[in-house]
Amino acid sequence: MTYVEIFEVGPRDGLQNEKRLIPISEKVALVDCLSGAGFRRIEVASFVSPKWVPQMADSADVLAQITRVQGVSYAALAPNLRGFDAAVNARADEVAVFASASEGFSRANLNCSIVESLARFGPVMDAARAAGIPVRGYVSCVTDCPFDGPVAPGDVAHVVAALRDMGCYEISLGDTLGGATPDRIAAMLRAVVQELPADRLAGHYHDTGGRALENIEASLEFGLRVFDAAVGGLGGCPYAPGASGNVATETVHDWLVARGWDTGLDRDVVANAARMARAMQKGHA
Ligand code: HMG
Ligand code: MG
Repeated sequence: MTYVEIFEVGPRDGLQNEKRLIPISEKVALVDCLSGAGFRRIEVASFVSPKWVPQMADSADVLAQITRVQGVSYAALAPNLRGFDAAVNARADEVAVFASASEGFSRANLNCSIVESLARFGPVMDAARAAGIPVRGYVSCVTDCPFDGPVAPGDVAHVVAALRDMGCYEISLGDTLGGATPDRIAAMLRAVVQELPADRLAGHYHDTGGRALENIEASLEFGLRVFDAAVGGLGGCPYAPGASGNVATETVHDWLVARGWDTGLDRDVVANAARMARAMQKGHA
């Protein structure tokens, strides 16, 4: 069987959009459960402005209180050097910078243009290199932007190339709105693989339109072997109006296993985590 990695992003992408301020103990319990499922990487924190995303304001406490499992990389978002320093102080194993392929979403999510956002990442990359911290890159709005409409594949490839040149070890391609179709994902990937090989790309597909699995299937055909997902299908980005959660980890797992792929995950533990995540969403974990 061939391995496909599911990168669990529920504790960050999933929870960041929840309106109820979730107690730290619930977040820690979810991460601790996920740590026993067999994931290699779990995104657990986000060192962004607490005014922009209040739910993530306690990220340092979450990282301090989880029980770390050897072999699991605990990841955090860092939009600028301040976020990077906070992530390192909290002992994040890796960080992620996040850019957009469209100007409208870049303004809404980062309050600056694409070029300005890339300039802010420069010092993050330098500091990460000096500290030996791996940096992942995200590109949002790889097919559609909530503000600018359809996004050209070449625009995505352009930002991918910029993040590659800065030193991101892997780049995750975000269908932020969750409205992509397999043919448009394929068109986007045809342009992107000219800049970065498939083994350094990941698919990050929100499931608003219910076609995330088909988009994963199209991406597998291009050679992608890493997909981001959130237990319980939690979440979304507060700055992407109309978008819903990430594709659910348990759904991706079952779909992959049924097609002969190995995820290395314990299905019972994933199911427990999904139950916890759904209860957190309803407000009674
Ligand atoms: P800004 O207002 O332009 O920047 O925000 P600023 O430098 O003027 O800072 C504003 C305030 O934030 C200041 O505080 C700063 O000190 C503070 P004040 O002086 O007003 O009290 N600040 C910070 N605080 C904590 N940590 C920091 C930090 N930086 C500044 N790192 C900024 C610019 C980037 C900070 C803001 O736009 C921001 O935080 N944006 C993040 C939005 C976000 O987190 N979105 C969700 C994650 S992305 C996502 O979900 C997409 C993804 O899943 C992929 C996909 O689905 O496509 C990854
Ligand atoms: Mg996302």
